[in-house]
Amino acid sequence: MRRKILVTGGAGYIGSHTCVELLAADYDVVVIDNFSNSKPAVLDRIAAIAGRAISWHEGDLRDRALLQRLFSQHHFAGVLHCAGVKSIPEAQQFPLKYYQHNLEASLTLLDVMSQHGVHKLVFSSSATVYGEAARLPYREESPLAPNTVYGRSKMMVEELLHDLVQADDSWHIGILRYFNPVGAHPSGLIGEDPNGQVNNLMPHLCRVAIGRQDALSVFGHDYPTPDGTGVRDYLHVVDVAEGHVKALQHISAENGLITLNLGMGRGYSVLEMVRAFEQVCGNHIPVRFVARRQGDLASYYADASRAADILGWRAKRGLLEMCADAWRWQSNNPDGYL
Ligand code: NAD
Ligand code: UD1
Repeated sequence: MRRKILVTGGAGYIGSHTCVELLAADYDVVVIDNFSNSKPAVLDRIAAIAGRAISWHEGDLRDRALLQRLFSQHHFAGVLHCAGVKSIPEAQQFPLKYYQHNLEASLTLLDVMSQHGVHKLVFSSSATVYGEAARLPYREESPLAPNTVYGRSKMMVEELLHDLVQADDSWHIGILRYFNPVGAHPSGLIGEDPNGQVNNLMPHLCRVAIGRQDALSVFGHDYPTPDGTGVRDYLHVVDVAEGHVKALQHISAENGLITLNLGMGRGYSVLEMVRAFEQVCGNHIPVRFVARRQGDLASYYADASRAADILGWRAKRGLLEMCADAWRWQSNNPDGYL
């Protein structure tokens, strides 16, 4: 009998790649997603890659009655909680939305899990919880000081999880702080397909390369970094997905709470990303230097040694592979999932 895992936000960017790796590791997968930032079409693509169908439910995590039905219907061995909203500018404008979808949704999920005796959870957190206070590279015990509503909503869930474990040692919890996941599944069948406004670097690079945008706006070239542009720890989304499977296996055997950075452990600048992308797509990417983006830090990257020591996990796929896979996804699916 395969163990069954609930993946919240399983139709999203991280969730969909994680479903593929869970299926490859011989788990059964059930997805819950409200499709606010994804499309049901991704679920057929996941099944096509894995050669096995997954069961899915459309609905909001804050819908307690729906969760009750789901947990009564299925016996879950654990939950990967990837659902959430993640746009920094939108969060500043609509904080209630961010606390509702990130905090309230997590509270409802944890409550229903507890009622049904499901105590294994891996939570999608973010390097954004560190904020400006931490020294580089960010270590898991670095101080947390997020300077945005989004970052605070993630930190609050982390704090809630700590309180839960303190009060009840039957919980097994993994907090994964992702740095900058990019790229796509090498099949070119699934990738990042955000609705509405796009903020992150890689989707913009793809749009310029395919001719949907005339140039990449580089936000600031006067940072104290080797070429003046921002430095981030980019890692391949399939490495992130593999990290979830390893984290799930680890927490299944050990109770308590563990927090792990998922990053490469080194940074690349915006211009290094542009050059790598040009190499794989064969097109020139015009850039235009513009003002710094509000809230951006000059540089950050992970100390990823704890995940290596504890999970035996390392981000294995390099920069060119990240760009080549993102480009394959973009060129095979210029309009995303239809
Ligand atoms: P995504 O938007 O592609 O996926 C999130 C999914 O959750 C979407 O399919 C969306 O429809 C769903 N969703 C949102 N609110 C929901 C709700 N209330 N009920 C049910 N479904 C809901 O985002 P992603 O990039 O896959 O990110 C997944 C998680 O990882 C998020 O929690 C995000 O904050 C976190 N994270 C992402 C990154 C990144 O760069 N992608 C970095 C750090 C952390
Ligand atoms: C952003 C979020 C962060 C989130 C992360 C992954 C902000 C301030 N931070 O981080 O909370 O966890 O995404 O989803 O939004 N850049 C350009 N031009 C562009 C886009 C980006 O020059 O069109 C630069 C940025 O200034 C930065 C780098 O590229 O130096 C990476 O940007 P991005 O992909 O948005 O990631 P983060 O800034 O790390």
